[in-house]
Amino acid sequence: MVKSAENDKMKDLFEKIYRDKGPLGKWASQAEGYFVFPKLEGQISNRMMFQGKEVITWSINDYLGLANHPEVRKVDAEAAAQYGSAYPMGARMMSGHTDLHEQLQNELAEFVSKEAAYLLNFGYQGIMSTIDALVGKDDIIVYDVDAHACIIDGVRLHMGKRFTYKHNDVESLEKNLERATKMAEQTGGGILVISEGVFGMRGEQGRLKEIVELKKKFNFRFLVDDAHGFGTLGATGAGAGEEQGVQDEIDVYFATFAKSMASTGAFIAADKEIIDYLKYNLRSQMFAKSLQMQLTLGALKRLEMLRTMPELKQNLWKIVDALQSGLKERGFDIGTTQSCVTPVYLKGSIPEAMALVRDLRENHGIFCSIVVYPVIPKGLILLRMIPTATHTLKDVEETLDAFDAIRDRLDNGTYKRMSAALMAAMGE
Ligand SMILES: Cc1ncc(COP(=O)(O)O)c(C=O)c1O
Repeated sequence: MVKSAENDKMKDLFEKIYRDKGPLGKWASQAEGYFVFPKLEGQISNRMMFQGKEVITWSINDYLGLANHPEVRKVDAEAAAQYGSAYPMGARMMSGHTDLHEQLQNELAEFVSKEAAYLLNFGYQGIMSTIDALVGKDDIIVYDVDAHACIIDGVRLHMGKRFTYKHNDVESLEKNLERATKMAEQTGGGILVISEGVFGMRGEQGRLKEIVELKKKFNFRFLVDDAHGFGTLGATGAGAGEEQGVQDEIDVYFATFAKSMASTGAFIAADKEIIDYLKYNLRSQMFAKSLQMQLTLGALKRLEMLRTMPELKQNLWKIVDALQSGLKERGFDIGTTQSCVTPVYLKGSIPEAMALVRDLRENHGIFCSIVVYPVIPKGLILLRMIPTATHTLKDVEETLDAFDAIRDRLDNGTYKRMSAALMAAMGE
């Protein structure tokens, strides 16, 4: 390693990195490869391999089971054979534009009942740029305090004022809109409100209907990130706005291809004039490569299936209903979910949570995500499950039985003893 010149008046930039790996990184030695960065192997489906054993996978957002659907795989493979992975080269604006990109945009816009849509090469950067492009320094952003990281990062780009409102709390939103309105009257700007259609950690739907009601009282525009709602909610699968009957009142609708569509990419949809503006102002799209053909053709195929195969969503909800009602009947706390996202809340420490998840994976063959403090309050363990159309009722039954068993062991102190022994062995 080449070290730069010593200067005792200042620090080496890397010093903090050597000292502190960050809130998640500090767990790396105990967690990496197992709790974080696990390697799930085999074809994406309800059952995959983890460290040489088959597990029922409840942690993959392949809601409609399209990831491995033979028709999808065929189109993906043919597109790759025809175009390779390069075409088209360059950003959409410069040289990366095709008829098929336009066709996909038109079909997406129609599907979500908006005048126009624009593709994004990744949802994360895309929504950041959308926020960035929609607001100027005089404008004010009001957003849910539990918003996804991509929204928070988008807000970070904003040079003007921003307010958070309490999670999904319309009263708190109203108070903040009052403050924002006063401020906007001074700055001469406007207001952007941002919510998620479905909050992906706990599964509640954003209170879109009540939020748009506030438009009668306040002057604001509304951006909704519907990553988890698109394809899973609403009569046609057009998402949380359709489900709540307020799609028209959402000014800018966003969804990613990374969940129901089981792919990569995303889109925004809005009035044509707004999309025409955004396509010339989204920095993450103007200065980055456009979606490759495999993703574009693949998305067209997936969208066609969303539209023409309602049984995919029906199969998904059959599993969601069985899992969520089974958990409730057995007395588990699944919080306030109103979507496919299925959280199970248990009480315990982080070491207990680690022992419990090991037990679930090793002895019961159940793989689900685990969320602990600081993402949720201290002393709570959140097991987050994502049902999909590929799961079976047998998967649900096995999982419910496994949950009964781990709850018994959590209650009788087995995990406390196991984690104490582990800590002692690690010399902590
Ligand atoms: C709520 C939400 N918004 C945005 C994104 C980012 O989308 P992408 O994976 O397409 O970057 C995600 C994650 O996929 C998400 O969960």
